[in-house]
Amino acid sequence: MSAEANTEQHYLAGLDLVGRRVVVVGGGTVAQRRLPRLVGAGAAVEVISPEVTPSVQSMAEAGEISWRERRYADGDLDGAWYALTCTSDREVNAAVAQEARQRRVFCVRADAGAQGSAVTPAVGEHDGLLVGVLAGGAPRRSAAVRDGLLDALREGIVADQQAEADGVLPGVALVGGGPGDPELITVRGRRLLARADVVVADRLAPRELLDELPPQVEVIDAAKIPYGRAASQDVINSVLVDRALAGKFVVRLKGGDSYVFGRGYEELLACVEAGVPVTVVPGVSSAFAVPAVAGVPVTHRGVAHEVVVVSGHVGPDDERSLVDWSALAKLRGTIVLLMALQRIKAFAEALVRGGRPADTPVLVVADGTMRTEHAVRSTLDKVAVAVVEQGIRPPAIVIIGPVVAVGDAPAHG
Ligand SMILES: C[S@@+](CC[C@H](N)C(=O)[O-])C[C@H]1O[C@@H](n2cnc3c(N)ncnc32)[C@H](O)[C@@H]1O
Repeated sequence: MSAEANTEQHYLAGLDLVGRRVVVVGGGTVAQRRLPRLVGAGAAVEVISPEVTPSVQSMAEAGEISWRERRYADGDLDGAWYALTCTSDREVNAAVAQEARQRRVFCVRADAGAQGSAVTPAVGEHDGLLVGVLAGGAPRRSAAVRDGLLDALREGIVADQQAEADGVLPGVALVGGGPGDPELITVRGRRLLARADVVVADRLAPRELLDELPPQVEVIDAAKIPYGRAASQDVINSVLVDRALAGKFVVRLKGGDSYVFGRGYEELLACVEAGVPVTVVPGVSSAFAVPAVAGVPVTHRGVAHEVVVVSGHVGPDDERSLVDWSALAKLRGTIVLLMALQRIKAFAEALVRGGRPADTPVLVVADGTMRTEHAVRSTLDKVAVAVVEQGIRPPAIVIIGPVVAVGDAPAHG
């Protein structure tokens, strides 16, 4: 019988393994891949193997599984509900499968699926749903279909209508949208966005994500709300609260992470005060993502042991400034400046004045992670002139420190 023919007859079931003995023979990378879901299902997992990978060993040390440091012996499946045999020795796998047959224990054979009595589906999770796909012994196919299904669920292409009908999403979600590239939002952020009734988006929130929203979603452009800076924040807060109290699920979509110079916590407080539940979904901050995509590691062994993220929205001598520029100037590591383009000259001068060498490398990246990204390499003493000459405009990140020169290595194009 071919593997395909056999697997077509499989019966897809969900096993309740809580507290039940599951024996895994072998402790290599195949076992390592299977263990987290078994542990997640609450199984009492026992790994039998003379050697295991460091990850399997750390699961044993953490008490998540028990590990018998020896070879498999007949009788090891005594009391088991389920078994997986994943050794590189076919004879051992065959012996385990044989014992499983005798004891009526369902057994997965990693090396020869058709010769076991169970197979592992490609599994994925979405919002509390478990999706499992079996493709007749074609694991790449089942994994690809699983991935496609999960993407479709996340993007709302396949509607999870029951979850919507259950109305499980009250209130406001503060979602960090990532630095600009629409693929750099988190999975959870994307999933909640697909469920939104109202989206309140910032200027720097990834715009492509808004284009994908269905027409009935109300999109409010926070950048277009008039009034001054402080007052417009009040207006945004009341929009969030009012829509949520009207029974809508509101996603507040921002660039990067909502709590990194994003005023997200003010919005959370406004919601909490009004009794509106808030979910916080962290985002990939431009402070770290933009340097990374531009080829600069913000820390590097032997080069930088610190990275400081600083707002440049007020100048170094401004009485409202909470930044100690002379202390920053004494650091040897990496400084990442946000909102600093307009006052770059004053910041560079303050750092040099405080002792940072004038030839410290600087990289300025505008529109990071986006198609329009462009960057200028310079040094502290010349950067102010360079950004003007190159016509660099906000939003831009300024990275200061020797890591910028590390980023010049040939591996980074
Ligand atoms: C108000 S702050 C918000 C930061 C955001 N919450 C985050 O975590 O990325 C805006 C500043 O972030 C930086 N920024 C955000 N996205 C950027 C991007 N794609 N490229 C360069 N800088 C960016 C710029 O310095 C911009 O002035």
